[in-house]
Formats: sequence, C-alpha cells, structure tokens
Amino acid sequence: MQPAQSLLLFGATGDLARRMLLPSLFGLDADGLLPKGLRIVATARSAHDDASFRAMAEAALRQVVEAERLKPELVARFLGRLRYVTLDASDPAQFNALAAVVDPARQPVAIFLSTAPSLFRATIAGLAASGLAGENARLALEKPLGSDLASSRDINDAVAEAFPESRTFRIDHYLGKETVQNLLALRFGNLLLEPLWNAQYIEHIQLTVSETVGLEGRIDYFDGTGSLRDMVQNHMLQLLALVAMEPPAQFDASAVRSEKVKVLRSLRRIGRDNAATHSVIGQYRPGAVAGMPVSGYVEELGRASDTETFVAIKAHVDNWRWKGVPFYMRTGKRMPSRQSEILIQFRAVPHSIFADRGAVVQPNKLVIRLQPEETIRLLMMTKQPGLDRDGVRLREVPLDLGTSAFADIRRRIAYERLLLDLVEGDPTLFVRRDEVEAQWEWIDAIRQGWAANAMTPRPYAAGTWGPSAAIALTERDGVTWRD
Ligand code: BG6
Repeated sequence: MQPAQSLLLFGATGDLARRMLLPSLFGLDADGLLPKGLRIVATARSAHDDASFRAMAEAALRQVVEAERLKPELVARFLGRLRYVTLDASDPAQFNALAAVVDPARQPVAIFLSTAPSLFRATIAGLAASGLAGENARLALEKPLGSDLASSRDINDAVAEAFPESRTFRIDHYLGKETVQNLLALRFGNLLLEPLWNAQYIEHIQLTVSETVGLEGRIDYFDGTGSLRDMVQNHMLQLLALVAMEPPAQFDASAVRSEKVKVLRSLRRIGRDNAATHSVIGQYRPGAVAGMPVSGYVEELGRASDTETFVAIKAHVDNWRWKGVPFYMRTGKRMPSRQSEILIQFRAVPHSIFADRGAVVQPNKLVIRLQPEETIRLLMMTKQPGLDRDGVRLREVPLDLGTSAFADIRRRIAYERLLLDLVEGDPTLFVRRDEVEAQWEWIDAIRQGWAANAMTPRPYAAGTWGPSAAIALTERDGVTWRD
C-alpha cells in the first residue's frame, strides 16, 4: 500500500480529535514522520473555514502537548497541513466538495471516521458515491463497532460494500499502546519465557483495567453500553488474545491476526449455565476516590439504571496450551486507582529446599503494566544479604525488563502509532472482521447468560475494588487479585 497523501478526518471538531488525534498527528509531524506533502483534510458539521479550524486545532494542541514541544516553526508547519471542509455527512451531495479537495483518483487517501456510529452508513455511502472509496482509499473506524454480533455485522457489511477488508482499519487503541506491542517482543523475542508460557508452568493470569473516572459526560453512550461492551469486548479481549496466542510465523497483519482469532474462538462459552458462577457485575454507589467524595452512578446519571460499571470474569481458553488455566479479568469505573495490568502467575517450585530453614518461596510473577506507567517486571526470589544465622531469608525482587533503560525516549500517545500505520498502510495493529465477530459472539453469550439468570449489578462503594463477589470469584480458587 502506498503512503497516503491526504488524511481525511471525519468528526474533526469532536473530543477524540481534539484530545488525541490532532496532538498525535502533531507529534508525528514534529518528528518528521508524516509523508512530506500529506494534507490533513478535516471535516465536521460545524461551520469553520481553514483559519478558524487551525485556531481550534492550535488551542487543542496547547491543551494537550507539553509547551516545550510546541516549537513555533513546528506548529506552523503542522497547521499549514490542515484544511477544513464543512460537511453534513447525512447529505451525499455534500461529499463532492470533499472529493474536489482530496482528489482520490490521483493520490492515496486515508479516511478516519471519528464520528457517532449512527453516521457510519451515510458517510460510507457518501464516500462511495463521490468516488472517495476507490482503490486508493483506506478507511479507519473507531469503536463502538456495533453493540452485539448482529449490529456489528451490519456495520461490517456496510463498510464492505465500499471498502474491501484489506483496506479496512478497525481501531482498538489498546493495540497502539507501547507495552501491548512489547508483549509480543517479550514473548517472541526471547527464548526464556516461551517454553514456560503454558499450563504446565502458569497457574493463572489476571487482567485488570481499573479506572478512577466515572461517566465523564458520556452518559448516554455509557449507560447504553456498560463495562462488558465498553472495555471487555475490545481492549481486554485483545490483551487476552495477545497473551494467549501461539507464535505467529511472521510479524505481519495476516499471521498475527489469524493467531488472535484462534484464541478468541477457543474461549470457553460463558452463558446461561455458568454466567452466575463465572462473572460478577457491579455498579458504583457514592464513595471517595483519592480522598475526594464522589457520587454514585445513578446520581451521576440522574435516573435509575441496571448498567454495569464493573465486571469481573473467569475465562478459559480451551486448547492444549491453556488447559485448566483461569484467565481472570476485571474492569471498572471509580476504582481506587488507574491501573492496567497483566499478571502472569507462575506455579510454585515443585519442592522447596528452604522450607526447613523457615524461608517462604513465592511463585514467580511477571507483571506487565500498561498504565499509569509502562513497566514490565519479573518477580524472582533472591537471598537477602546476611549471615542467615537464624534461618534463610528470601525476598521477592523485581527484575526490571528494560523500561527504565528507555527513560529518555518520549512515550507516544497510542494514536500516534495507529495513525502512522494507517497513513503508511500497515494493518497489523488493527482489528480484522473475524476477530471483532468472534469477540462479539463470546460477549453476546455472556449478556444472554446475565439475562437468563436475572443478574443485576451488585453495589460497590466508589473507590473500592468492586463488589465483594468479585473477590470471592477468585478466592474460591485460592487466588487473590493483585491490587
Ligand atoms: C475507551 C472506553 O475505549 O477506553 C472508555 O470507551 C475508557 O470508557 C477508555 O475510559 C480507557 O482507555 P485508556 O487508554 O485511558 O485506558
């Protein structure tokens, strides 16, 4: 795929564009990574001309990017790339104005839909009718891509009418996070871990994505969605797939994504028979986060609701590698801290030679942290220095796998990586249709299981780690969540 010469940004005045996309594009441009002549054609319904949009974009950069990176010549160069076309995406006739600016017949164009999904169909039809969906065009879409398997198929079908799968880039921004890609480097760039990466040596795996924020003004979206569909269907299942997949033969789009699909299809179904024992849902009540009192979910929402703001799941990947290894996942809003983490809990040594000397040997753990900081630590047992006259003292010590070695390298926003890949035409870190559909199939069964068992969210105080049933979910297996 040729690098794009135009990037067409739908929803360019929206929150995602201002907080993430424009700052990411600026970051890439400042580092000289965007194709020289790339134009960024922004479009939305609000009336702007180039000058007023550039002023809005500059204000957005000043909000997000550190002042010392905003060198005047770099800001001017970036703003110079921006054009704005006012467009009502529901009116196909208006797309001709865009086509005139972008000229897709001559130049490769990357199109990014950062709009409400209700506009996807009309936008795609407008793109197709105005010649903007030809061979030179590729399309990136932001979630939510449907709310269940059927609606996700509808969206995928509508996209497929204009863009073949090879030119469709479905975004899961977790795949742009540095540590997520590092997971592949760690697993497949080292000999040491992979032989141990299976049920024989791994006892269980924990995936936690906890947030301190509540609804953040996204009331209607979140209340109609809930944590399972907002976080597990996409981000957490992607993490799980990357942890559990077999080594792909190459680091390319087809091999990596095919391995992930196999994992997603091997997930044991959670539904009517086991939803009540394998999942817990919760909703936050008033409480305190970081010492500040916060309202409960229904107070924030202003109406009664059964939407879950917390979910914990005990999953299994039914294949040879993972036979019997539980994958515990949990995610929630208004938790005590913001923390995204993968814990690989290895099994205990088969026999401790230190037991008679009073020393406890903790099983090894690999902790891959995505947020708030990016770290990878292997917890190993080591001897505490000393003469040990009253028994051997062993201590668990973290082996820091490299992140501090790169302290001077700027950590990029996940979208920098994804936008660059989109512009350059590399779909490896984007989600393929069969992946999304396998994710939805698994999620739909869980929701049906909740309905069949009349499960409603259990209360938890804001600022705690979810309902006590979530603790019981792992404690029953003798496992404690790592907080
Ligand atoms: C989004 C969800 O996809 O991911 C949000 O819709 C959530 O509800 C966000 O807050 C979390 O992303 P990150 O990168 O802050 O972990």
